[in-house]
Amino acid sequence: MPTPYRRQSLSRHEQRHRRFSSGYVEQKPRTDDMYQSVGHYTTFTVFGASGDLAKKKTFPALFGLFREGELPEETQILGYARSKYEQDKFREHLRPFFKKGNTSKHPDFEAKVEKFLSMIHYVQGQYDTDEGYQKLDQICQEYEKKHNTTDEPSRIFYLALPPSEFTTVAKQLKKNCYPNKGIFRLVVEKPFGHDLESARELQANLAPLFTEDELYRIDHYLGKEMVKNLLVLRFGNELLAGSWNKNHIKSIQISFKESFGTQGRGGYFDTIGIVRDVMQNHLLQVLTLLTMERPVSFDPEAVRDEKVKVLKAIDAIDHNDVIIGQYTASEDGKEPSYLDDDTVKNKDSKAATYCALGLQIHNERWEGVPIVMRAGKALNESKVEIRIQYKPVAKGMFEAIQRNELVIRIQPDEAIYLKINNKIPGISTKTSLTDLDLTYAVRYSDDFWIPDAYEALIRDVFLGNHSNFVRDDELDVSWSLFTPFLEYIEGPNAPKPELYPYGSKGPKELRQFLSKHGYEFADEGIYEWPVTTTKVVDVAEKL
Ligand code: BG6
Repeated sequence: MPTPYRRQSLSRHEQRHRRFSSGYVEQKPRTDDMYQSVGHYTTFTVFGASGDLAKKKTFPALFGLFREGELPEETQILGYARSKYEQDKFREHLRPFFKKGNTSKHPDFEAKVEKFLSMIHYVQGQYDTDEGYQKLDQICQEYEKKHNTTDEPSRIFYLALPPSEFTTVAKQLKKNCYPNKGIFRLVVEKPFGHDLESARELQANLAPLFTEDELYRIDHYLGKEMVKNLLVLRFGNELLAGSWNKNHIKSIQISFKESFGTQGRGGYFDTIGIVRDVMQNHLLQVLTLLTMERPVSFDPEAVRDEKVKVLKAIDAIDHNDVIIGQYTASEDGKEPSYLDDDTVKNKDSKAATYCALGLQIHNERWEGVPIVMRAGKALNESKVEIRIQYKPVAKGMFEAIQRNELVIRIQPDEAIYLKINNKIPGISTKTSLTDLDLTYAVRYSDDFWIPDAYEALIRDVFLGNHSNFVRDDELDVSWSLFTPFLEYIEGPNAPKPELYPYGSKGPKELRQFLSKHGYEFADEGIYEWPVTTTKVVDVAEKL
């Protein structure tokens, strides 16, 4: 009897790590049948198989799962696209993108690559005519017959395609490849529309074809390790759960920085801008997980219900409370400006490559707490992090003392650190700002496999776990929030973007903007992370 797709309760890495830990508790949904895992024999088809996304993300993620023993070797993997490819040529074109993973020990890496490549077959076909889909269906049927699963087939289709093809392919799949029984899942990638109207139109096209249960809308930020950790961190620690509100928190920041520009993607980016590219989706997802109420359980619908509720409580974006920027050439002249990117055709483009905006959530927990969301390309570093700054403690016994700040670094190098005031050890009566530091690379050994976002999410598709995918109503609320703002920054009265040099920290007003939103900068030179020296401040002589 073939076993269904199910991971063992304790992975190899967990077992190895166990010696450092008091034990693991699997946090399951309340009802065991909440997830509907696919059978052992599944056909996973990647549409747009010859494209960039498939080559760089989808196939490498499938390989990563296979490498880690999370994908049965009997899985049938099909690549579907219009281009002509010999089977071997197609496989070879994927090979350079497979990674060894962050667990250094994969002596059988090459053998695994060979085995995985042998599981892949390329199918050439058009997107808008029946023929190719009928061929696909035939291949699925033969596989299902061979493995005696015709009564319960499992088919997953992944659209690594531009949105203009979504509806056509979805209709064809329903017509030609939809099994009447068993499992059918359709995975789609952003962008899910360009604004509220187009998102609704897309949804109206998909809804008659497939149930919400059959659809998996990927926002790859939801697959990132630290983003998946947010609910555990918040609700699994009374220390944080108890202080996670307006009574204790002074300000919240979610920041996304990239050290590179559009680099050849300017044609695409110019119609999108930074707000659609990463804020309406990735950063907003982070914000909802950070601010939602406690769900009754980890059940996907319980989690997503709470996300929708908090999204609805976010106030309309205030057009006067934003910074819009666009990068110019780097100061040394080595890096081009946004407008100098050959792929940006409109040389007067006002497209935002940087945006910072203030948000307010009107509910009991967050009323009055300023939230800043900011994102920029071509900055001084690549980093995505959350900063929760706490209110200052009462004065009196202290003359001056710094605020607590919790930093959750999503990437690179996952880390959580809490800045705290501490007495300098020994006879000193001075205090210093130091930290409780949970840097993953230090706390968890190298042997711990942290899946890439796509690996984590594709695995969830196999398991039938919808928690980390965007639900239709969630999408609707997020577009409702951002569409008026986008209309403003792209409309006739659009603000002129502030220019900032490639490789800088972004528009100059940022520091003032953050201060205005309640963020206090630590005294210059007092605190740095990771801590290398203890810098002492004579701030609390009365201690
Ligand atoms: C994508 C955006 O969705 O996310 C890119 O289109 C951006 O412009 C990317 O670079 C960031 O993802 P990550 O995982 O590299 O932080």
